[in-house]
Amino acid sequence: MSQVVISLFDHSGRFVEPWAAAGYTCYCVDVQHPAGETWMGNVCLVGGDVRHFAPPPGPIAFVAAFPPCTDLSNAGAHLFRVKGLRALAAALDLVGTAADLCERLGAPYFIENPKGQLRHYWREPEHRFSPCEYAGWLANPTDEAYTKHTCLWTGHGFQMPEKRPVFPIHGSMVDKVPGSKNRANIRSLTPRGFAAAVFTTHHQTSPTL
Ligand SMILES: C[S@@+](CC[C@H](N)C(=O)[O-])C[C@H]1O[C@@H](n2cnc3c(N)ncnc32)[C@H](O)[C@@H]1O
Repeated sequence: MSQVVISLFDHSGRFVEPWAAAGYTCYCVDVQHPAGETWMGNVCLVGGDVRHFAPPPGPIAFVAAFPPCTDLSNAGAHLFRVKGLRALAAALDLVGTAADLCERLGAPYFIENPKGQLRHYWREPEHRFSPCEYAGWLANPTDEAYTKHTCLWTGHGFQMPEKRPVFPIHGSMVDKVPGSKNRANIRSLTPRGFAAAVFTTHHQTSPTL
């Protein structure tokens, strides 16, 4: 039975936190990690391009992917013509790499991106949510009482977790993040409420540990 979780395009490691705490071996792949493998307990930070990532052998319990959305999101649509064809092609290539890996690995998976071009070039997402709809999973729900329209493309038995919504007292996350060097990383942080809900749903359904 698998005790391995893979999270692609994951700099913060937030998605794997509950899995790691439960004893799973977790791989977080992101170009912003130090090159090569850095082990932190049972979490392996893989620094490099997802297109060169070789997953560990054996069965996988879950795969998550958070590909860059800058050249796909409707929020940047006014810049599409300025950025040109190659930016779009590169962004689609990364999503395609994630989709191929997810299909090949055979575990429940989701690929996350905002509303944007993927519905035209791939398919409609299977699910949509905002972080505030899962904030009730947190000890401090107000931490994630914000909206950010998020889409999920899913497969291999992924189940959308039960929502525990709170009122979005912080409004839209996209408008709130201050301008800073770290702005893109802050805006794209995986919501911990959603991560907890996905873990509970998929961990309980799998007799792995
Ligand atoms: C939309 S953000 C997702 C962040 C994630 N939700 C988190 O909490 O860290 C996309 C991430 O993809 C990473 N990235 C971009 N191109 C990459 C590539 N070719 N291979 C691996 N990671 C890449 C970026 O460094 C960034 O952290």
